[in-house]
Amino acid sequence: MTTLLSGAMLGYGWIARHGHAPYYQHAQDVKIVAIADPTAACRERAQADFPGVRLYEDAASLLVAEKDLDFVDICTPPRWHAEYAIAALDRGLNVLCEKPLATSTAEATAMIDAAQRNHKVLLPCHTYLHAPVVRAVRQLLDDDRIGKVHLVTLQTFRNTHAKGVIDWKTDWRREFQYSGGGIAMDHGSHTFYLAFDWLGALPSAVTAQMTAQGSWDTEDAYSCTVSFPGGLLAMAHLTWTAGVRRVYYTLHGERGAITVQDDDVELALMGAPLEGGNGAVQWTYERIACPSDWMDASHIGWFGALFAKFQAALAAGEPVTQELRHAWTCVHLIESSYHSAQAGSASQPLVSVAAVVDTDTADTVA
Ligand SMILES: NC(=O)c1ccc[n+]([C@@H]2O[C@H](COP(=O)([O-])OP(=O)(O)OC[C@H]3O[C@@H](n4cnc5c(N)ncnc54)[C@H](O)[C@@H]3O)[C@@H](O)[C@H]2O)c1
Repeated sequence: MTTLLSGAMLGYGWIARHGHAPYYQHAQDVKIVAIADPTAACRERAQADFPGVRLYEDAASLLVAEKDLDFVDICTPPRWHAEYAIAALDRGLNVLCEKPLATSTAEATAMIDAAQRNHKVLLPCHTYLHAPVVRAVRQLLDDDRIGKVHLVTLQTFRNTHAKGVIDWKTDWRREFQYSGGGIAMDHGSHTFYLAFDWLGALPSAVTAQMTAQGSWDTEDAYSCTVSFPGGLLAMAHLTWTAGVRRVYYTLHGERGAITVQDDDVELALMGAPLEGGNGAVQWTYERIACPSDWMDASHIGWFGALFAKFQAALAAGEPVTQELRHAWTCVHLIESSYHSAQAGSASQPLVSVAAVVDTDTADTVA
C-alpha cells in the first residue's frame, strides 16, 4: 500500500516550479498542501499550479502553522538551506533539500546532527545520479567492464551562470551572501558526488584554483585536483565562461575507459598487446546513446527517481543515506577548495564525514 505524503515547498522559484512541481502535480502518493515564498509573483504562480494550496510569506510561519506535514522540500538559494532544514527536522519533519546541501562544513554538520537527533530523513537533491547517461555509466561499472576506476575527470562548461526567477534576485548565484560561492558551490556538488560514486571512495585532500571576471564577489571558473586514499584521483574544471554548454566526463579503469559527452557514452576497451612491443594494444570501442535532456536545466525527467529514493529512505527509517554523507563531503571539499585557492593552491587535508555521523544511523561506507 502506498502512503500519501503531505508536503510543503519552501521557495517557489525556478527549480521548484519547473523541476519539482510537475512531478508533484501528477503523483498519486504526494500532496503539496503549503508553500512559502517571500515574492508575491512566485506565490501567485504557486496558487495557479496548486489550486487551494496554503501560502505563506516566510518559512517560519509555515512551519508553525502547518500541523500535518510529513516533509518539506527546500528550494531556496543555499543561504537558507541549513536554517530551514534544521527547523523542519526539529519539528519532526523529513527534508528533501536542493543542492548544495549547505554553504559551509559547520552548517552541513549541524544539519546531519539535526537529522540524527530527530531520526528524520534529510536527503539532498543529487539529481545528476538519475540522468539516463549517468545510470548507463553506473551499469557499465556494475558490469565490471573497465575494472577498478582509479582516475576520473569531470568538466562542466556553461556560457553563463543559471539565472533565478526575475521576480526575486535573478543573479543570486553570483552574490556570495545568497550562494556561498560561485561555480564551485553551484556545480561542485554535482561534480563531486559523481566522482565519489565512480571511484567508490571519499577524498583525503584538495588543491584548487579559481578566477572571476567582472565585479561579482564569486568565482566563475574553477579547477581542482582531489586526492583519495590509495592514489585515486579526480580532476575537475568548471566554468561559466565557456563557449559551449556541455558536460564532459572521463573514467579510467584497469582495462578501459568510459567517456561521457552529454548524451553520448563511449566505452574503450584494451585488448591484446600489438606486435612490436612498444606498449601499444588493440583497442575496441562501443558507443551508447542515452538521450538525457541536458539542455533542459530543470531535469524534471530525473526527479521521479530522486523522489523514489526519498520515499525509500522514509520507508527504511534511514536519516543518513550515502547521498547525505556525500553531500556533506561535497560541501567540505568546496569550502576547502576556497581555502586552497586563497593559499595559492596549497593542498588542504580533508576530514572524513565519519567524524560527524553516528555509526548506528549510517549505512555502508562510501
Ligand atoms: N538539482 C539541480 O539540478 C538544480 C537546478 C537548479 C537549481 N537548483 C538549486 O535550487 C535552489 C533554488 O535555485 P533556483 O534556480 O530555483 O533559484 P530562484 O531564484 O529561481 O528561486 C529561488 C526562490 O526562493 C525564494 N526565496 C528567496 N528567499 C527566500 C526565503 N528566505 N524563504 C523562502 N523562499 C525564498 C525566491 O522568492 C525564489 O522564488 C538552489 O539551491 C539551486 O542550487 C538545483
